[in-house]
Amino acid sequence: MNLQPGPIGVFDSGYGGLTILDKIREQLPQYNYIYLGDNARTPYGTRSFEVVYQFTLQAVKKLFELGCPLVILACNTASAKALRSIQQIDLPHLAPANRVLGVIRPTVEAIGEITRSRHVGVLATAGTILSRSYPLEIKKLYPDVEVTGMPCPMWVPLVENQEYASPGADYFVRKYIDALLEQDPLIDTLILGCTHYPLLMEKIRRYTPAGIRLVAQGEYVAARLKDYLSRHDEIRIRCTVGGTCRFLTTESEDKFRESATVFLQQQVEVSRVVLE
Ligand code: DGL
Repeated sequence: MNLQPGPIGVFDSGYGGLTILDKIREQLPQYNYIYLGDNARTPYGTRSFEVVYQFTLQAVKKLFELGCPLVILACNTASAKALRSIQQIDLPHLAPANRVLGVIRPTVEAIGEITRSRHVGVLATAGTILSRSYPLEIKKLYPDVEVTGMPCPMWVPLVENQEYASPGADYFVRKYIDALLEQDPLIDTLILGCTHYPLLMEKIRRYTPAGIRLVAQGEYVAARLKDYLSRHDEIRIRCTVGGTCRFLTTESEDKFRESATVFLQQQVEVSRVVLE
């Protein structure tokens, strides 16, 4: 069994996971990280369960090969469609001492304390909404909370194409929020259930009625990870420290460098990898 220490792996279908990485590094700056974006095959949100599972498994294997003892799926679609199978089926024979964690559970855990009306809305990709992961997880922890989901298929393309601040984005941002609130006007908490959505925050806020709380995931995922590491010494001691971050993409390095700068407001060094 390989118990070598290594960086924490953070995976997303594209750039969205950078919003999670950013918050994790704010709360846990001491660790080393590898960020892997499957930019060549993004978006995952419209793909089938089987395909998202296969792609995510390839990414996890790559991060294990690169020495990561712990991988965070910083993608709701991958967390919804692949996390459980990887944890239960693949991990035991692939790397039983390693761990893979997702972003849905930490977000759901926070919800019970936030909603007063006990009506919660979820804005996410079609894949995440169709998986019903949010309502199922919320019901387990908070059976009294009503959950309504709304797929927002245009939001990831707006972000990936850097149109999130353009006037054209307003129409689609408003459209899905209005449709969701029409379905359940008692909603007082909106989960941004896709790691790309914080980039649209300004417009989402503009079209969300005052009094409705918007929940972006980064800080909750980071806080839960901090807590997890404090309770799991066997994993914590295998996470190397030094504060470095390596970026990997399956697409062109130039494209990643340019877009990552928008997400992180800093220049990054990136290398291309092949997932298979
Ligand atoms: N960032 C991913 C998520 O959180 C979605 C992007 C995609 O569709 O690939 O679900």
